[in-house]
Amino acid sequence: MTASTRNTILVAGSANLDFVVRAAHVPAPGETVLGREFSTFPGGKGANQAVACARAGDAPTQMLLALGDDPHATPLEASLCAAGVAMHIVRARDVATGTAFVCLADDAENAITVAPGANNALRGEDLPDLDAIGYLLLQLETPIDTVVAFAQKARAQGTKVILNAAPARALTAALLDALDVLIINEGELAAITGVQDRIAEALTHLKVPCVIVTLGARGCCARSLRADGGGEFHLQTAYRVKALDTTAAGDTFCGAFTAALSRADALPQAMQSASAAAAIACTRLGAQSSIPTKTEVDDFLRAHAAASNATDDLHELAVYCAIPR
Ligand code: RIB
Repeated sequence: MTASTRNTILVAGSANLDFVVRAAHVPAPGETVLGREFSTFPGGKGANQAVACARAGDAPTQMLLALGDDPHATPLEASLCAAGVAMHIVRARDVATGTAFVCLADDAENAITVAPGANNALRGEDLPDLDAIGYLLLQLETPIDTVVAFAQKARAQGTKVILNAAPARALTAALLDALDVLIINEGELAAITGVQDRIAEALTHLKVPCVIVTLGARGCCARSLRADGGGEFHLQTAYRVKALDTTAAGDTFCGAFTAALSRADALPQAMQSASAAAAIACTRLGAQSSIPTKTEVDDFLRAHAAASNATDDLHELAVYCAIPR
């Protein structure tokens, strides 16, 4: 198959069952907080991103994941299946399915601790055939050697590689060299480049062809490399919504963005639809349960057309990112 006829997205990464407690605030170190209701939700950065790709609706989506042979695996498989994700499952014996412990605060922020369990069983040789795969989407909740092996194999076979470098870990040159797109948040950008607070400058330290920094309620900033080697910045302001739960908003962005690229949307359009999908996800509880369909995103974009990239908001975002004028 030629690169242009490869229309399938493969997400390779983690799946966790999220154990969520709502509380007035996230506990400080050493503090115990008396929370309220408890719920479980299908989650994990990889699985959330696969669901976001599939709900974006244009590309067949597959996921490579590792699960334990235990009851926690059942809702994770069911959620991916219901979203239409075709699964390649590595079944890890005698290891628990991944879990995540989420404290969700009333201001919609959270603190998450992950017990990776079976996610650590994924190996480079588990990568399925890439013949039909146009985009491979990766995160960092699986062993880093495995992520590097996946990225290098995909690059060698002409599949575009997108890495969401979350949670933040040291990235080797070998991994960065295999990427077409890197998606990171502000903290992860600072951790990777060693440059604090100066986003445009930090971006000049990275040679990946396209880097997107997600900035929460401010929006996002992309730096793409032109053919002459110069950098070009693109900004997208965030849609203002009443946030209930920001869990998986970043994952929704990554999945919706990848789906948009796979349908050949230009970078600014892909940033806009991914931002809309992430905004909707913030208004709903849970990880995969919060991710919108393409119809919901299209309706949202129509309803909020006037609110996207308003001049004052764009200016504020450009100043925040310290983009040279
Ligand atoms: O990005 C949100 C996800 O991080 C949660 O679903 C949790 O499982 C952790 O992986």
